[in-house]
Amino acid sequence: MDKKTILLLGSGGREHAIAWKIAQSPRLEKLYIAPGNPGMAAQGELVAMDMLNFPAVAQFARDKKVDIIVVGPEVPLVEGIADYFKEHGELKDITVVGPSKRGALLEGSKDFAKEFMQRHSIPTAAHKTFNGTNIQAGLQYLETLQPPYVLKADGLCAGKGVLILNSLAEAQAKFREMLEGMFGNASASVVIEQFLSGIECSVFVITDGAGHYKILPEAKDYKRIGEQDCGLNTGGMGSVSPVSFATAEWLDKVEQRIIRPTVQGLMSEGIEYKGFIFFGLINVGGDPYVIEYNCRMGDPETETVMPRIKSDLVDLLEGVALQDLDQRTIEFDPRSAVNVMLVSGGYPEEYKKGYPITGTEDIRESIVFHSGTALKDGQLVSAGGRVISVTSYGKDKDEALALSMQGAQAIQYQDKYYRRDIGRDLK
Ligand code: AMP
Ligand code: GLY
Repeated sequence: MDKKTILLLGSGGREHAIAWKIAQSPRLEKLYIAPGNPGMAAQGELVAMDMLNFPAVAQFARDKKVDIIVVGPEVPLVEGIADYFKEHGELKDITVVGPSKRGALLEGSKDFAKEFMQRHSIPTAAHKTFNGTNIQAGLQYLETLQPPYVLKADGLCAGKGVLILNSLAEAQAKFREMLEGMFGNASASVVIEQFLSGIECSVFVITDGAGHYKILPEAKDYKRIGEQDCGLNTGGMGSVSPVSFATAEWLDKVEQRIIRPTVQGLMSEGIEYKGFIFFGLINVGGDPYVIEYNCRMGDPETETVMPRIKSDLVDLLEGVALQDLDQRTIEFDPRSAVNVMLVSGGYPEEYKKGYPITGTEDIRESIVFHSGTALKDGQLVSAGGRVISVTSYGKDKDEALALSMQGAQAIQYQDKYYRRDIGRDLK
C-alpha cells in the first residue's frame, strides 16, 4: 500500500493529538503541519504558513505532493477551503478532510443547524430564530418559555456566543443587546431555544461524503474553569473517554436517531461533507438530544479520542479520500484516557504569557500535548490561555486521572492552574 504525504492545518492541542496519531502510522510518508506549535515538531515538519491563505496552502500542497490535507479548526472550513480545492481542477487529486462551506454551516450558523435538524427529525431543543426585523416577536417568544433562557448568536463566536439566563427581564435585555451587535455580525440573528437539562457528551464521526461513516470514541469535556463545574466557561479544561453513561444502548440511540439521519440528510441535500462531524449531545432522561454540531474535532476531546483509537488513522483518512470508509475498520483501545489541561493563571480572563515551561521531558507514563506554547531563544514558554495538557491511560478513569495529575504536577511554569476533578462526576 502506498504511503501518504499529509498536511495538517492548525496549532492547538487538538492538532497535536491528531499529529501524534498520524505520526504513528506505517502508512505515513511525510507530515507537514502549518503552523503547528513547538510540541508538534516531534511529529512533523512545521511550516510557517497562514492557513487562511488558500492559494498559498494550495501552492505548498502541490509543491510537496501532498495527498491529504486535514483541517483542524473550523475557520478555514467555514471560509471555504474545501470548495477552493474543488474549484481548482489542478488540485483535484488532493483530498481535503473537512466539509464544504455549506457543510460547515452546521457549525457556522446555529439557525442552519436547527433547521437542518428539523428537516431530518433529529432530536434537539425547540427553537425560533429572530433578527432586527422581528425583535418584538422574540421578546414575546421569551415570555412563552420557562427559565432558564438560552440565547445563541447565529454565527461563529469562538465558543462564546451562548448565553443562559435565569430571569426573563435579563434574557430580554441580553436578546436586544445581542441583536444590537454584542457579538458583532455573528449575533445579527439570534436563536432562542428551550433549555435542556442533562449531562453532555461529545460524539465524533469521520465520514467520506458517500454516506459511509465510522464512529470514533466518545468523550466528555469540562468547560468551566473551576472544580465541580463552577466559574467561567473556557475552551475546555480536560476530557475523559469513554463516558460511563454512553452505554452501547445509548450510543445505538445516538447512531439511529442522530448520526445516521445527519449523514443521510447531508447526502440527500447534496451537501458535500468529507471529514469529522462533532455531535455535542445532551442526555435527557436516557435520550440523546443535539445541543450543537461542529464541523471539526473537539478540543480537548481529541486529546483523549485519538489515544483511544487503536486503528491506523491514515487508513481512515485514505478511506475518506477514496470514499470507501465502509471497507475500513476502526478499533478502540479498551483503556480509559483522561486529559488534564494546564492553563495560564487568570484564564479565561486576563493572563500573562511568556513564562518558561520546564519538566515536560520528565513525563514518561503520559502523553504531553501542547496547546499554547512557543519557543523563545530556545526555551519553551507559555503563549496562550490553554498552555499544555497531559493525557494518561488507565484501567479505569480514576487510574488515568491519577497519572495525569502526576504529569500536571511535574510540568512547571509560573501561575500554572489545572482542575483536579476531570471525570470525577461520572460513575
Ligand atoms: P454551544 O456553543 O451551542 O455548545 O453551547 C454552549 C453550552 O451551552 C453547551 O455546551 C451547553 O452546556 C449549553 N447549552 C447550549 N444549549 C443549551 C440548551 N438548549 N439547554 C441547555 N444547555 C444548553
Ligand atoms: N470542546 C468543545 C469544542 O471543541 O468546541
